[in-house]
Amino acid sequence: NEIKIFSPATVANVACGFDVLGFCLDSIGDYMVIRKTTEKGIKITKIEGFDLPYETEKNVAGVSAQALYNDLRPECGFEIEIHKKIKPGSGIGSSAASASGSVYGINELLGRPYDKTQLTYFAMQGEAIASQCEHADNLAPGIFGGFTLVKSTKPLNILSLPTPSDLFATLIHPQIEVKTVDSRAVLPKEVPLENAITQWANVGSLIHAFHTSNYELIRESLIDVIIEPHRKKLIPHFDDVKANTLRAGALGCAISGSGPSIFALCKGLETAKQVEKAMHNVYSKSGIAFETYVSKIN
Ligand code: HSE
Repeated sequence: NEIKIFSPATVANVACGFDVLGFCLDSIGDYMVIRKTTEKGIKITKIEGFDLPYETEKNVAGVSAQALYNDLRPECGFEIEIHKKIKPGSGIGSSAASASGSVYGINELLGRPYDKTQLTYFAMQGEAIASQCEHADNLAPGIFGGFTLVKSTKPLNILSLPTPSDLFATLIHPQIEVKTVDSRAVLPKEVPLENAITQWANVGSLIHAFHTSNYELIRESLIDVIIEPHRKKLIPHFDDVKANTLRAGALGCAISGSGPSIFALCKGLETAKQVEKAMHNVYSKSGIAFETYVSKIN
């Protein structure tokens, strides 16, 4: 009647796939405890780590849990404890981890009445109150694992992509907050056709590269000509981090979700660690506090 879950951090966009691609990290995430109760309804009983609202209708985990609950109308209720490790506004899917964790846990306790796409749909209701727009590119990898592509949100259609076995992610999280709403506000409404062509060629070839474990093609495809030029101004030392991680052997380096975190994809754990050092070197001189992580994609 109780379940403890790990709700992973995720990287959305993956350079060229704005709002559609994402992947799941296995070394960073929140913990949640979900308990079945005889009293009906959804209650948040504990939040540790960050100051977030306890009211179900204001809490991302509460809203997504309530969406599932209203659909199923079970004869019981649920209590949710959130042990938050992912800082809100970090660009590694903090709200998505809360939104997907609660529905994933409740579904397990109920004997899995819903499939992963349906869980993502409920989680989107929670994510919407945090980012004020409906996107599932952080939710889908958290629920499905590995790399995912959100083919469409209406109707919701998620594709699970293969992960080449030697692929690692290195991340730096500068301790500044960039709100998704703000980093969406800097984006243009229209895109030159030439850039659109480059971008969709990169998305297509990146997916082909995942299917064929073609690391060189991953390197050539991890390029974002549409979003990064506008958003990188919000992230101190972005260009330096990118140049230094590429020099240290990263296949590619780009903004994680809406920032400020920056991720690099690397072939092999050793390269991933070298890339982590390169990130350290840039930020240790900056006076901005930061954390770095190396993670498998799972
Ligand atoms: N795809 C979204 C964005 C993810 O980049 O705005 C942020 O949560």
